[in-house]
Amino acid sequence: MKIKHDYNLLSLNTFGISAKCNTLIEYNTPDELLSVIGQSPVLHIGGGSNLLFLDDYKGTILHSRITTIEELEDCRLRVGAGVIWDELVDYTIQHNMYGLENLSLIPGEVGASAVQNIGAYGSEAKDFIVEVDCMNLVSGERRIFSNEECRYGYRQSIFKTDEYKGKWAVLYVTYQLYDTFTPRLDYGGIRVELERKGIGTDTLTAQQLRDIVIEIRHSKLPDPKVLGNAGSFFMNPVVSREKYEELAQQYTHMPHYDVDAEHVKIPAGWMIEQCGWKGRSLGKAAVHDRQALVLVNLGGASGEDILKLCNAVRADVNKRFGIDIHPEVNFI
Ligand code: EPU
Repeated sequence: MKIKHDYNLLSLNTFGISAKCNTLIEYNTPDELLSVIGQSPVLHIGGGSNLLFLDDYKGTILHSRITTIEELEDCRLRVGAGVIWDELVDYTIQHNMYGLENLSLIPGEVGASAVQNIGAYGSEAKDFIVEVDCMNLVSGERRIFSNEECRYGYRQSIFKTDEYKGKWAVLYVTYQLYDTFTPRLDYGGIRVELERKGIGTDTLTAQQLRDIVIEIRHSKLPDPKVLGNAGSFFMNPVVSREKYEELAQQYTHMPHYDVDAEHVKIPAGWMIEQCGWKGRSLGKAAVHDRQALVLVNLGGASGEDILKLCNAVRADVNKRFGIDIHPEVNFI
């Protein structure tokens, strides 16, 4: 177990914000976590790819270093919360287990995949999660949440609700994978890329699909090592069909995805771009010039700088479209 006091969290948040915590504890096993349970205030983090520190954290930060990958029967894997998500995706393909290809290169760790229900290119973590093994951060109680109990939705889970948020640490996640490769190709320009490369869908391999997803992500999303960011800063809003139809009359080319009979999802990145924010900066924070859903740290920005930009963007989107967009990123 690693315990550090007065620790700068720069390397533990992809936004590259300089903030300190009183104590950082990184544990390697559930027993180590149990031995430090009951700290207050306490914050459990993952890879720090979905956090924005607005100030120093005057408490204890916990971080899992449980990094085991255990092969169970029937293409199931029980994976430690501290495993880097993309290393898991790579592992599955190397071991002929399929399903996670479209989720390649999403930053963060396995624990967060179960909390955030990470998603991209038509796949979501929830499609593969069997159960989530957790420890209560107050009592040390161990509890396994089935996929159903996790109440998954778009970037949503029980672990993000008021009642559960911040109270449970994910120890292990069990995923169900498949021994045959069934590619999902209908989202985010994957087919266009296949055609461009002259790869036929009949000969496509899981590794090739992973490489294409990585290439698409590289072309749109900034590398946090170069330009601090937390991926999509906002969630795509889900609006009533009535609201969508009202807007679609005015914006005939507005991209959208049907959610169900009554609801439609509208890409926040498109709305932000329409408001003229794409590539624009405010102080040391900016809207990324290749994907307007991403806010970036131009260097030395504080959490407050990013928050100011976030609020300005939100206000403009609301003024123009009458839609309130919500950050996906957690403010600490
Ligand atoms: N768009 C614009 N301008 C922009 C950005 C997007 O017009 O600056 C339009 C695109 O042309 C497209 C639509 O908006 O018609 C959707 O864009 P894109 O496919 O890039 O996806 P997104 O909805 O902006 C979501 C996820 C991403 C994920 C992609 C691909 C959320 C919050 N974000 O973004 O996830 O990679 O789909 O599936 O749902 C992340 O969570 O960090 C993340 C990057």
